[in-house]
Amino acid sequence: MNIRTIEWKDNRIKMIDQRKLPNKLEYVYINNLKSLWQAVKTMKVRGAPALGAAAGLGVYLGIKNSKAKTYLSFKKELDRAAKYIATSRPTARNLFWALGNMASVAEKNRDKSISSIKKMLFKEAQGIIEEDRAACRKMGKFGAGLIKRNDSILTVCNAGILATIDYGTALGVIYRAKEERKKIKVFACETRPVLQGARLTTWELMKKGIDVTLICDNMAATLMRQGKIDKVISGADRIALNGDSANKIGTYSLAVLADYHKIPFYIAAPSSTFDLSIKAGGEIIIEERSKEEVTSLFFSKPIAARGVKVFNPAFDVTPNNLISAIITEKGIIRPPYTGKIKRLLTG
Ligand code: MRU
Repeated sequence: MNIRTIEWKDNRIKMIDQRKLPNKLEYVYINNLKSLWQAVKTMKVRGAPALGAAAGLGVYLGIKNSKAKTYLSFKKELDRAAKYIATSRPTARNLFWALGNMASVAEKNRDKSISSIKKMLFKEAQGIIEEDRAACRKMGKFGAGLIKRNDSILTVCNAGILATIDYGTALGVIYRAKEERKKIKVFACETRPVLQGARLTTWELMKKGIDVTLICDNMAATLMRQGKIDKVISGADRIALNGDSANKIGTYSLAVLADYHKIPFYIAAPSSTFDLSIKAGGEIIIEERSKEEVTSLFFSKPIAARGVKVFNPAFDVTPNNLISAIITEKGIIRPPYTGKIKRLLTG
């Protein structure tokens, strides 16, 4: 399967509409900032690295037709676009990392003509995409070293092709293990309420010929107790300096369960997911999403009493002491994380 989650094509953004999966592989074309913002907000595109790509391309979309004559007025337009994109979803570090990269490319080249700054911004947005493709493959290689023949791996949400450009972080490790001819088995948590595991992870793993079994989120403990899980691997949306990692809601409970059952719990994430400005996970902003995702999304009739109060945080934070190792494109980091993360990523 050779697909790209998001790319620049025919002078606009082309992305898979992930809301339509697994029933339809449909692409949407985006040629204005508002549609880009909506695509992020409604999760047509989702997953931290894919959101980084969307942010980079989004900034370019926001400035490509700029008529600004001076750098200052051009930069104002760029900042406005970046600020707007930043209001779409708060948790994935990659989105803000990409916005920062775009702004600093403009700033570093402020003495150049507006048209050459535009070209450089386009190159940077493409660079973010290529960086992700390379990082995922490197993570896959490092991570596959942790996988043994006949391992049975539990994963949550979707940290695969659809969350990145074309390979995946946690699922990239699985793809690489398969490329190395290791026979493996995957259990995918359905991942309530948006069902990224059921809709997206099973879809792409099956297309890639991986042996995958879908479970409801509350079945993980039973599988672990039965000795059916050898490893848990998840992606991450933002990782603090001490290794605390935000990922899809439910990841923390899997880490607690893995710890109890003495199963290694790994996170695979590129350096663009690390937030070196925060010391610990308590500083991570957790997105809260609409109550409809819990009460009715994907169901033809409501599945909860009308008017019930709903709590719908989209992410949780797994504390570093529950994480056996973090797989990055620069190598594998093992606890204690404080100090090592900064050294590996900035060294
Ligand atoms: O709400 P989502 O679908 O954007 O959440 C995505 C996740 O939590 C992924 O596991 C994470 O971004 C890592 S993706 C490589």
